[in-house]
Amino acid sequence: MGDLSLFQLIVLTSIFIVCANAYIPRFLRGRPKGGFLGSPALDNLDGEELALVESDLPGAQFFNQKLDHFDTQDTRTWKQRFFQSCAIKSKVLFVMIGGEGTANPIWNVKGTWIDYAKKHGAVCLQLEHRYYGQSHPTLDTSLENIQYLSSEQALYDLATFIHTKKKEFGAEKVIIFGGSYPGSLAAWFRIKFPYLVDGAVSTSAPLLAQVNFKGYLEVVQNSLDTFKGTNESCNDAITAANTAIEILLPTHAGRNKLKSMFRLCNDIDVHEKKDIANLFSTLAGNFEGVVQYNKDNRAFEGAKGTNITIDTVCRIMTNKSLGDELQRYAQVNTLMLKTYAEKCTEFKYSKMIDSLRDVAWMSEAAEGGRQWTYQTCTEFGWYQSSDSEAQPFKHSFPIDFWTQQCQDIFNVKFNSTFIARAVAHTNDGYGALNYTQDRVVFVNGAIDPWHYLGITKSLPQAQAIYIPGTAHCANMYPATKEDPPALVQARAKIGQLIDQWLQ
Ligand SMILES: *[C@@H]1O[C@H](CO)[C@@H](O)[C@H](O)[C@H]1NC(C)=O
Ligand SMILES: *[C@@H]1O[C@H](CO)[C@@H](O)[C@H](O)[C@H]1NC(C)=O
Ligand SMILES: *[C@@H]1O[C@H](CO)[C@@H](O)[C@H](O)[C@H]1NC(C)=O
Ligand SMILES: *[C@@H]1O[C@H](CO)[C@@H](O)[C@H](O)[C@H]1NC(C)=O
Ligand SMILES: *[C@@H]1O[C@H](CO)[C@@H](O)[C@H](O)[C@H]1NC(C)=O
Repeated sequence: MGDLSLFQLIVLTSIFIVCANAYIPRFLRGRPKGGFLGSPALDNLDGEELALVESDLPGAQFFNQKLDHFDTQDTRTWKQRFFQSCAIKSKVLFVMIGGEGTANPIWNVKGTWIDYAKKHGAVCLQLEHRYYGQSHPTLDTSLENIQYLSSEQALYDLATFIHTKKKEFGAEKVIIFGGSYPGSLAAWFRIKFPYLVDGAVSTSAPLLAQVNFKGYLEVVQNSLDTFKGTNESCNDAITAANTAIEILLPTHAGRNKLKSMFRLCNDIDVHEKKDIANLFSTLAGNFEGVVQYNKDNRAFEGAKGTNITIDTVCRIMTNKSLGDELQRYAQVNTLMLKTYAEKCTEFKYSKMIDSLRDVAWMSEAAEGGRQWTYQTCTEFGWYQSSDSEAQPFKHSFPIDFWTQQCQDIFNVKFNSTFIARAVAHTNDGYGALNYTQDRVVFVNGAIDPWHYLGITKSLPQAQAIYIPGTAHCANMYPATKEDPPALVQARAKIGQLIDQWLQ
């Protein structure tokens, strides 16, 4: 024993998740299962076959952390997980900020930040985010207990951790890294705790909190438009397919046809408006996930789905010999079901809500879906509604569909007024796009819908790197031979900035 390969471990974990009798969408609020930042691919290192085994990875360590940083009378503590690698001792600390998923120790041995760390002989520390992975501050995620989940608490966790580790190592310099939500945390940490950090690499970071993130699907449309495989428009075909679904829904025969074509797990009840919205949104999710991670060198969920790209789905959508647009849209769905080993397409709203109401750590919801949903309801919004005109999925999952979920999952108090206030609080607290700190680099990919809420143009005091043609967090994954020149240059530029910050 002890020789289970990491790959086997990942496969075992995903089998556990797939077998659980719960329904959490594979792609929920822009977040794939596992979290925004997938694990780097295991065997795709620039020609080099690297068979990682468990013993190559650092073991988990735990850090005593305060439960509530905003109540000095509350002395309760919990154990926050972290991983250490690279140098054993150094005056330079590199810290990878954990996000809305389990911290994966693969990141302690692979990824671009490891290359930078080796160059500077740095110690690499990855700190798991509270309430995700094994970092459980409370007995469960009930509403009473999950109240200590917030970006503000997470930034204080990071501050106490960095403060302690700086002393422990006698370190003089600290560089922090984060991708997606942790990219936002990296930028915000530099605002709140400038004396603790000498530079921040903030990748694919949404900095503007927003209830109705309708720009998301606009970028999806633009990204699908980059497909040049045929003369047909991928977006027009998607629109035609969605129109065909709308035409079929009112009749019994039409609903039966949809059930069989899209391999739905249940009959469609035409009176259940939320089921219908969820169905449209689920089918759109087939494309959202592909766009968000197009060609990234990642392998989350044991390498599944990583070879499905914009080209793959648009080649299907524009291929007339595969039938009409509706049939092609169904074929994309079948491909996704097969790839993720799902028997049928879930879309029952009540089943999804029930799953997300589960407060146990041993539930599928605790993988992160419940916690991330809580953070969207109480801090960020970021709902990928169909409210824009400039997107191909019709208008079948409007903003109310999303905000209602906060009430249905957590509390009637979490209504649209509540969410709007929470989002305003977040923007006031961090300054949104009015960013005035220095020693930060903002890195974004043009294909990635999240760049819409980020800083993509350099500021007087902080540089932005906008990479044409790449998706979410592309620069963080290990380099491959297929990387476009702009991505290669971006990685080099970030390296130069780190060199400067460490001088
Ligand atoms: C696309 O259209 C152009 C000009 O309209 C034509 O020359 C070309 O052969 C077409 N390509 C395909 C794959 O149909
Ligand atoms: C993706 O890779 C898997 C496993 O290598 C393969 O079975 C599948 O056909 C590939 N899918 C596409 C769309 O290329
Ligand atoms: C369209 O689909 C057919 C049937 O699967 C396939 O033979 C053909 O190569 C496809 N065409 C394109 C352009 O992908
Ligand atoms: C949300 O709830 C508050 C009370 O908790 C109420 O004052 C407000 O009008 C509600 N907003 C909406 C849009 O229902
Ligand atoms: C940030 O800047 C925008 C304009 O870019 C402005 O509308 C907004 O009020 C500013 N927010 C703050 C908190 O200053």
